[in-house]
Amino acid sequence: MSESAHGRRIVLHNRLEERESPFRLAEDARRGLTAETRTMPPKYFYDDRGSRLFEAITRLPEYYQTRAEREILERHADAIVARIRPGVLVEFGSGAADKTRALLDAMRSAGTLEGYAPLDVSREASQRAAEALIRDYPDLRVEGVIGDFERPHHLPFPGRRRLLAFLGSTIGNFERERSIAFLAGAAAEMSPADGFLIGFDLVKDADTLERAYDDAAGVTAAFNLNLLRVMNRELGADFDLAGFRHRALYDASLQRIEMHLVSTRDQTVHIPAIDLTVQFAEGESIRTELSHKYTRASVEALLRRSGLALCDWFTDERQRFALALARLP
Ligand code: AVJ
Repeated sequence: MSESAHGRRIVLHNRLEERESPFRLAEDARRGLTAETRTMPPKYFYDDRGSRLFEAITRLPEYYQTRAEREILERHADAIVARIRPGVLVEFGSGAADKTRALLDAMRSAGTLEGYAPLDVSREASQRAAEALIRDYPDLRVEGVIGDFERPHHLPFPGRRRLLAFLGSTIGNFERERSIAFLAGAAAEMSPADGFLIGFDLVKDADTLERAYDDAAGVTAAFNLNLLRVMNRELGADFDLAGFRHRALYDASLQRIEMHLVSTRDQTVHIPAIDLTVQFAEGESIRTELSHKYTRASVEALLRRSGLALCDWFTDERQRFALALARLP
C-alpha cells in the first residue's frame, strides 16, 4: 500500500506482484502461437506507442465508439446516478479516468459523491488520475487497486452504495465464457443496492463495423502491427513487419469483429526468449483481437447467465453504442 503527499485522500493498493500481473508475454506468446488457431491477447497492443495509436483511433472518423459513449454519458449521467444514488464509483480499467468525470459530476450534483475506486494495471495512470480528481473534487476520497482488474479480490469501499463501471466496450474483447466469468465475479462482490454500468458496442451493418476496424488512414493497421514490434523488442523475435498485413473481418453469425495479422508470404519467425520457431504459409494469420457486438437481447442474456439483470439501457441517438445498467436480480 502506498499513500501520497495528500495524506489519506489517496490510497492505492498494489496487487501487481509478479504472480498476479496480467502481463506474461512469454507465456502468452508460447501458448497463443503454438495453438491450432494462432492467437495473441490484445492487452499487448498497449505499450507507449500502441496506447498513442489507440488514442488516435478514438479520434478517427470511422471509429464512432468513443464519441457515441461520451454522448451517452454526457446526456444520461444524471439519470444513471438517479437510479442508483451511489456514493462511490468503482471503475474497471480506469486508465486516465477521462470518462469518469461525467459520472462523478452527476454524483456531486446529486449530493451523493464520496469516493472513487480506480482498478487498473498502471500505477502511474492511476496516481496521476487520482491527484487530478482530488484537486477538482475537494471532498473526494480515492481508494484504488493496482493490478489485474479481472481479479480485484475485494472491491474498495465495502458497505457504501457503489456504481461499478466497465466502459469502452472492453468487455467485447473477451471470449463469451470469460465475459460471463468476469461479470459473475463482479456480481459476487455487489450488494442489492449497487449498480453496474457496462459499455457495449451494438450490432450494425458489416461495412460500418469493418471500416471502424480498417480505417482509411491506416491507423488501426499500425496499431495491429505494433504487436509484432512488441514481440520483437520484448522477446527478441524477428517478425518482419513488411511480411504481415492487417485484416479486420465481421463475423455476423458470431456477432464479432476479428482482427488478424496475415502473413503475405511463406516465412519462418524465430522467438529466442521462448525458444520457438513459427512457420507461416502465405495467408496464415495470427488472430490478435475479438471485438464482440451486442443487441439489447444478447446483453440481457449475457447478464442473466452472469447472475445479473438489466435494469436500464441507454444508447446514443443513432443507436450505435449502449450503456447497460445492471443490478442483482
Ligand atoms: C478498446 C477494446 C474497445 O475493440 O474497439 C480499436 C480496441 N481495436 N480498434 C475495440 C480496438 C481496434 C477497442 N476496445
